Amino acid sequence: MTPAVYRRDDGTVHPPLLSPGYRSTILRAPSQAPVLLPHTLTELTGPVLGEGRVTAADADLTVRAGGGEAQGQRIVVHGRVRDENGRPVPNSLVEVWQANAAGRYLHKWDRHDAPLDPNFTGVGRCLTDASGHYRFVTIKPGAYPWGNHANAWRPAHIHFSLFGRAFTQRLVTQMYFPDDPLFGYDPIVNSVRDERARQRMVAAFDLAATVDEWALGFRFDIVLRGTEATPMETRP
Ligand SMILES: [Fe+2]
Repeated sequence: MTPAVYRRDDGTVHPPLLSPGYRSTILRAPSQAPVLLPHTLTELTGPVLGEGRVTAADADLTVRAGGGEAQGQRIVVHGRVRDENGRPVPNSLVEVWQANAAGRYLHKWDRHDAPLDPNFTGVGRCLTDASGHYRFVTIKPGAYPWGNHANAWRPAHIHFSLFGRAFTQRLVTQMYFPDDPLFGYDPIVNSVRDERARQRMVAAFDLAATVDEWALGFRFDIVLRGTEATPMETRP
């Protein structure tokens, strides 16, 4: 089998692993150049993810098993996953995690003095359909302080992970909301140096995706590779 040849990104789309304004990258970023290992059969034929395990309920973060409803502004977040040639990427496992409406994660390391919501775990997943489309129902997350520097607040965001057909094919990014006043102050947003690339991390308000008297709608399309790629924390 001839391995696929992919166009490499031009170096401006994805943030550098060392972004000193984002303080923890100073310790986290590798200090030496990476060694590229060729993928063998083990990496290329990993487990098939999702089928038969992912249920429709996994894509609705607003209702907990047992029926309790989460607090906050209900939103629909949807979009298409496409490759560098605009082709839809079907059967991709899309996972999301986020803070609740008050800006608090259900996580032992989150010490933010904001209330937890007993009906909101902040995690969800779904598979893209044949046209590459995914859809979640969730709660608009709150901004939260993160201690990177004095009075540091993250803009409201939803973390996204996308899997291909194997564990080695995983991409991670963050989705933001339009016109957030915190964009200019956030070192993570600004670790993506190109303004057009930064805009590709921002969802668009989508009237067609709203649900009358029930939820607002946002569209977040994701491009996996190429010059129009969505910036990723993990490199394609
Ligand atoms: Fe976050």
